[in-house]
Amino acid sequence: MISPSSLPFILLLSKLALAANNWNEPCLSGTCSYDLDNSTSHGTARGSLYISGSTNAISDLTAAAGWTVLDCDASTGAQDIRAVCTGDNSTCSHVYQNGVVGTIVRLPDNCGKMPFARVAAEWTSDNQSVPDSVAQKLRRRSEPSTVRGITLDTQFHKIDPSSHGQVSMLVQGATGLNSTDALPVPSNSTLNGRSLFGKITSSISSILKDLSFNVDKSNTQTISVNKPFTLIDKTEQCAASGNLTAFTAGLKVDVVAAAQASVNYGVVAQGSIVPPKVSQFGLFADFDAELDGTLDVNALASISLSSGQVTIFQAGLPGLDFPGILTIGPSFEVNALASAMVEADVQMTVGLAYNISGAKLYFPPSSGSSTGVFKPADTQLKLSANPSVVASGNVQAHLIPTVLFGIDALSGLADATIDLNLDTFAELDLSLSKSSASQLSGCTDVKTGLSVNAGASGSFLGLFSKSTTVSLFSKTFTVFEKCFSKGLRRGHARELATMSLAKRIAPGVTCTDGGSLSQTSITNETVSASSIH
Ligand SMILES: *[C@@H]1O[C@H](CO)[C@@H](O)[C@H](O)[C@H]1NC(C)=O
Ligand SMILES: *[C@@H]1O[C@H](CO)[C@@H](O)[C@H](O)[C@H]1NC(C)=O
Ligand SMILES: *[C@@H]1O[C@H](CO)[C@@H](O)[C@H](O)[C@H]1NC(C)=O
Ligand SMILES: *[C@@H]1O[C@H](CO)[C@@H](O)[C@H](O)[C@H]1NC(C)=O
Ligand SMILES: *[C@@H]1O[C@H](CO)[C@@H](O)[C@H](O)[C@H]1NC(C)=O
Ligand SMILES: *[C@@H]1O[C@H](CO)[C@@H](O)[C@H](O)[C@H]1NC(C)=O
Ligand SMILES: *[C@@H]1O[C@H](CO)[C@@H](O)[C@H](O)[C@H]1NC(C)=O
Ligand SMILES: *[C@@H]1O[C@H](CO)[C@@H](O)[C@H](O)[C@H]1NC(C)=O
Repeated sequence: MISPSSLPFILLLSKLALAANNWNEPCLSGTCSYDLDNSTSHGTARGSLYISGSTNAISDLTAAAGWTVLDCDASTGAQDIRAVCTGDNSTCSHVYQNGVVGTIVRLPDNCGKMPFARVAAEWTSDNQSVPDSVAQKLRRRSEPSTVRGITLDTQFHKIDPSSHGQVSMLVQGATGLNSTDALPVPSNSTLNGRSLFGKITSSISSILKDLSFNVDKSNTQTISVNKPFTLIDKTEQCAASGNLTAFTAGLKVDVVAAAQASVNYGVVAQGSIVPPKVSQFGLFADFDAELDGTLDVNALASISLSSGQVTIFQAGLPGLDFPGILTIGPSFEVNALASAMVEADVQMTVGLAYNISGAKLYFPPSSGSSTGVFKPADTQLKLSANPSVVASGNVQAHLIPTVLFGIDALSGLADATIDLNLDTFAELDLSLSKSSASQLSGCTDVKTGLSVNAGASGSFLGLFSKSTTVSLFSKTFTVFEKCFSKGLRRGHARELATMSLAKRIAPGVTCTDGGSLSQTSITNETVSASSIH
C-alpha cells in the first residue's frame, strides 16, 4: 500500500485564473467565493470554493474593499506583505472589526497563491514609501492612511473559533467541465452542512452527480502507454559444446504495458476552515480505457521467485488546488508484478486485453453507485512446452493501470490517497509429466482476469479508511484448458514452495542436454472475446 508521505504528489496546475469571482463586490457580508477557471485548455480543472461565517470572520484585501497591495508575491503562500488603503475608509476598516488578527481575507489575483489567507499579524510598516500612482490616490483622500505590514498564511487552525466564530466551507471542482455553468451553485444550507431535507449526504452526492454528468468527454486528453518491461530476468547461458548449440536456462518474465485511458474526476468537500474540519467528502472518477497488455513467460528452470510490485509508468493528471484548503494531486501509473513457482521448459505469451467504457467510480461508496461496462477483447495466446521435461507449477503476473488521487485537506489536517486499480492478470497452471520427446501428458490451463476496484491508503477524518473499498468489476476467464493422455499427480506445485530460491535448470536437464531441448506447441491462437464471456 502507498503511504501518504511517499505518494507521488504530482500536480499539473495551470496558473489559477480568477474568472467568475466578482472583483467589484467586496466580501464584507460574511460570505465569499473563489472560482478556478481555465476556459481555454482541455482537460484542466474548474472549481469553486465558498466560505461563510460571521461578518467579522471574513474580510477583503482587494481593491473592491479599497485596499492596494504593494509588496506581495503571487507565486508563494505565507508571506509578509505591505498594503495601504487607497479607497473608501469604511470598507478598508472592515478587516479591523472585532480585531484584525485571525480574520480570513480574500486576496487579489496578484497576491499569494492562495485565494484566502489568515491575518497572522498586522502593524504600521517601517517602509512608508509608495509608488507615485498610489501617492496620488492617497493625496486625494480626506483621511490620512498609513502603509500597513501584514503577515498572511493558511494556518487556519491557529484561528481561535471563539473570537470570530466558525467559518464554513464548500469546495467543488472537476476536470472536463465544458463551462463554468457546469458547476452547480450550492445553496446556503448545503454550504453550512445542512440540507433542507435534513439529509446531509444527499446534498453532497447530488452536487457530485451534477458535476459528473456535466463532464464533456470529447475534450479529454488520452493517456497512452506502450512500454515493454522485464519483470523477472534470472537466466544463464549454456554455452555451445561439441555439436550442441548454445541455449538460455532460467526464468524471464516480460510485459508490455499498453493502455489508452481517459480520466476525468471531480470532488466535493464540505466542512469548516475554522475550526478545521471536513464533514463530507466525495470524489468521482469518470474513465474509459483500452487495456492491451501482453505477458511473455520463458522458463527453463526449477525456480520460485517473485518480482514484487514495480511501477513501470507514471504521468501526472491535471490537479485541483485551493492552497491551504483542498488539494487534489492525481497521477496515472502502471504497476506490475509477477511470481513464479515452476519447474518446466515452457513458453507462454498471453494478451491482457480489456475494454472499459463509461465507467464511473464514486468514493466513498456512500457518495454514489459506481458503474461501467467492462469487456474482454480478443487476445493472443501462445503456449508451448517440452514434453521430455516435467512441467509443473504456476506463473502469475499482474499489469495494473492505476489512477491515484492524492488528497490534502486544510494544510495537512488530513491526507490520504484514493487509488483506482484496473488490475489485469494472467495465470498459467502446469502439471505435465515427463513423457516421450514429442508426446505431452498431463494438464495445463491459462486464466486471465480483470478486477477494477478502488481503495484508500489511510483514514481520512473518519470519512473513509483503509477498509473502505469499492469493487466495480471482478472476473476471471479461463482462456485455455487442456489435459493430454495421462494425468500427473496434482499438488506438485505445493511441494515446490519449499524449494530453495536458487534457480536450477529444470530437473533432469543439464547444459549438455541443450541439443535435445525442443518445445512442442500446445496452442497458438487468437482467443476471441466472445468465446470467454
Ligand atoms: C489555461 O491554461 C493554459 C494551459 O495551461 C494556459 O496557457 C492559459 O493561459 C490558461 N488560461 C487562463 C485564462 O488562465
Ligand atoms: C480610516 O480613518 C481613520 C481616521 O482617520 C484612520 O485612523 C484609519 O487608519 C483609517 N483606516 C484605514 C484602513 O486606513
Ligand atoms: C520599501 O519598499 C519598496 C517596495 O518594495 C522597496 O523598493 C524599498 O527598497 C523599500 N524601502 C526600504 C527602506 O526598505
Ligand atoms: C455543457 O454543460 C451544460 C451545463 O452547463 C450542459 O447542460 C451541457 O449538456 C454540456 N454540454 C456538453 C456537450 O457536455
Ligand atoms: C445566502 O446567504 C447570503 C448571506 O447570508 C445571503 O445574502 C443570500 O441571499 C443567501 N442566499 C440564499 C439563496 O438564501
Ligand atoms: C554429435 O552428434 C552426433 C550425431 O548426432 C553424435 O553421434 C555425437 O555423439 C555427438 N557428439 C557429441 C560430443 O555429443
Ligand atoms: C475494444 O475497443 C477497440 C477499439 O475501440 C475495438 O476495436 C474493439 O472492438 C473493442 N472490443 C470490444 C470487445 O468491445
Ligand atoms: C503463431 O501464430 C502466428 C500467427 O498466427 C504466427 O505468425 C507465428 O509464427 C506462430 N508461432 C508459432 C511458434 O507457431
